[in-house]
Amino acid sequence: MFPKQVSIFEVGARDGLQNEKTVSTQDKIILIQDLAKAGIKRIEAASLVSPKWVPQMADSGEVLRNIKREADVTYSALTPNLKGLELALDAKADEVAIFGAASESFSQRNINCSIQESIVRFKPLMERAKAENIRVRGYVSCVLGCPYEGEIDVNEVARVSEILYKMGCYEISLGDTIGVGTPNNARKMVQAVSQVVPVDKLALHFHDTYGQALANILACLETGVSVVDSSVAGLGGCPYAKGASGNLATEDLVYMLHGLGIDTGIDLTLLAQAGNKISQALGRQTGSKVAQALLS
Ligand code: HMG
Ligand code: MG
Repeated sequence: MFPKQVSIFEVGARDGLQNEKTVSTQDKIILIQDLAKAGIKRIEAASLVSPKWVPQMADSGEVLRNIKREADVTYSALTPNLKGLELALDAKADEVAIFGAASESFSQRNINCSIQESIVRFKPLMERAKAENIRVRGYVSCVLGCPYEGEIDVNEVARVSEILYKMGCYEISLGDTIGVGTPNNARKMVQAVSQVVPVDKLALHFHDTYGQALANILACLETGVSVVDSSVAGLGGCPYAKGASGNLATEDLVYMLHGLGIDTGIDLTLLAQAGNKISQALGRQTGSKVAQALLS
């Protein structure tokens, strides 16, 4: 049984643009406003990480400060530590997200510390967020494979997910960071995590590097998950697989969900237009097959 509704968490302006060539602050603002006009209610708009690590996101504070906000839309920001949270609070992010991994090597390369050290680092952030009454989402990367370690034990995915949930994250987003998963493995992984985190607190964050994301999502929707992350126009490359496509295009996801009779509240044509506009700013074609078909 599929859910009647799916909530889409749009990550194009963050996960997408962090892996593209830098676009102007104004282009980012237009993209975020266009996404809201298309009916998206949850938008990851910024990443308050070190600009030395991710220069594409260096203007995140400015983006958050200058978007024209819709009252019913949540604008969120990625925050690796307390400093990131403080910057997010200054720029009035509605919610933030911490990000850990189920792979030690990935944790080291991505946030420069072990899994255990990352948990310690998240604690003061969680306390401050609670005091400020701001919700925190938790990402777990490498849930279906790691670029350095290969296969990842589902028990480790469940362990890290449970820690982040028990620390107070309101939702755990399960990231197939390099898009290597296939449907049976993906479903089994979600079933394992849902033994320790309620399934209605889980989200799917599947990259499309190997073209498997839609199939994996379809398999996992049967487990009761009803939140899916995706990126308009398939924005985002994959830094671990040169030349490969990165994120799943939101347009393709919405098309599949609507075809299944699942409500998203999103206007597909407006969404595809938003994706084409940012693709033009990047000087490339949209990565969404649906947008290519719809707007050709
Ligand atoms: P570090 O070098 O170990 O940190 O980096 P540090 O505390 O030693 O600080 C070093 C410098 O960074 C200092 O500046 C700090 O002030 C500054 P300096 O004194 O050298 O001038 N700094 C910051 N600046 C701005 N904002 C901050 C911040 N924190 C410290 N928040 C750190 C540790 C975590 C900061 C670094 O490794 C980092 O920024 N990593 C981010 C990497 C990243 O953004 N990766 C992509 C996002 S994750 C992802 O895409 C996966 C996901 O989509 C899910 C999936 O697909 O699996 C979420
Ligand atoms: Mg990602």
